[in-house]
Amino acid sequence: MRVAVLIAARPNFVKAAPLIRGLRHTGLEVSVVHAGQHYDEALSAKFLDQLQIPDPELNLGVGSGSHAYQTAKTILGVEAYLRERRPDALVVVGDVNATMGGAIAAAKCATPLVHLEAGLRSFDRSMPEEINRVVTDQLSQLCLAPSDDAVENLRNEGVTEDRIALVGNCMIDTLLENLDEASALRHWTKLGLERGDYAVLTLHRPANVDEPTELERIVSAVSDATSPLDVVFPVHPRTAKNLHLDRYPSRSKGRIIPIEPLPYAEFLSLMTGARIVLTDSGGIQEETSILGIPCVTLRNNTERPITIKAGTNLLGGREYDSILDAVQRAFERPYPDPKDIPLWDGKAGLRSAEAIVAHLQSGASSIA
Ligand code: UD1
Repeated sequence: MRVAVLIAARPNFVKAAPLIRGLRHTGLEVSVVHAGQHYDEALSAKFLDQLQIPDPELNLGVGSGSHAYQTAKTILGVEAYLRERRPDALVVVGDVNATMGGAIAAAKCATPLVHLEAGLRSFDRSMPEEINRVVTDQLSQLCLAPSDDAVENLRNEGVTEDRIALVGNCMIDTLLENLDEASALRHWTKLGLERGDYAVLTLHRPANVDEPTELERIVSAVSDATSPLDVVFPVHPRTAKNLHLDRYPSRSKGRIIPIEPLPYAEFLSLMTGARIVLTDSGGIQEETSILGIPCVTLRNNTERPITIKAGTNLLGGREYDSILDAVQRAFERPYPDPKDIPLWDGKAGLRSAEAIVAHLQSGASSIA
């Protein structure tokens, strides 16, 4: 049997790597298809290399553009691939535009579809990722869920039990595998910083970064809230377009240190040494939970409520006052222990692969 895995953007790579290894371990043939939604060296090639993802059989070269453009280009590219190569199943990952594009193409070509990281919900349909998640899960023959809450969300949307497998969190497989090497890097020393003496900030959600005044308000709030810590800020290309750093330099409070996006191990290293992480990313909320680093999420909601329950993550919203309040609460709490979340144990890739094999062998995926 041959399974195609569609990858597209930075967060996909981190989740797909353990799945691909797991699939190979079970003896399946695996083809990697890269949609090319992320194409910069810093967001793509370095990640594929560090995570030892096999060279893609094909790169669809989707690139940047509107949501419709990215989705449509993915549908066309994946449709042509599926018609020509006829894999036994297509696996799509996470919640980016290419995830939904791949799902639609598979459904139209009657190719069995598997969604890795199924069932997460922010219940906020103004987020493009939420639309991508809902559509992809509805079209999938097999939904691989990372946590109990995700399983519950799938059931509530009418996904039947035979289409759901609780497998755990593949992103944490990658974290655990790279943690020793990342810790040894002590990446903060390269920035002249001391362990525990700085914050890390990442921002890329359209709602936070597409309007320069919104972005400025959030960055100022983070700088004031975390003062006197320095704030290391790896800047996503989407954010860089609107970030006018000349507006903050003379602040006496927390100094913002903008840097290029980091490769996986370097970013993980930076997180391990941070006093606090502030982010609008989904995956970083999970990673900080396992690391036991306080996290403030710069959004009004999260599709990862398990990280709030774990006590490592606080919702800080997007307003100046709410961000200050959340950071203060995070500092007042006892330093969280690294969390032990069920099935976030480094074996999710293998469980995912086994669930895919069992599903294909059961014949449950014959949808033509
Ligand atoms: C995408 C995903 C988001 C994910 C994020 C991780 C969607 C809807 N969003 O958001 O869920 O958390 O990736 O980074 O799919 N750009 C480059 N180089 C690249 C890629 C993008 O410069 O390699 C620039 C382009 O100008 C583009 C902008 O970044 O317009 C945004 O890229 P895009 O892939 O559309 O969405 P992200 O904001 O990265």
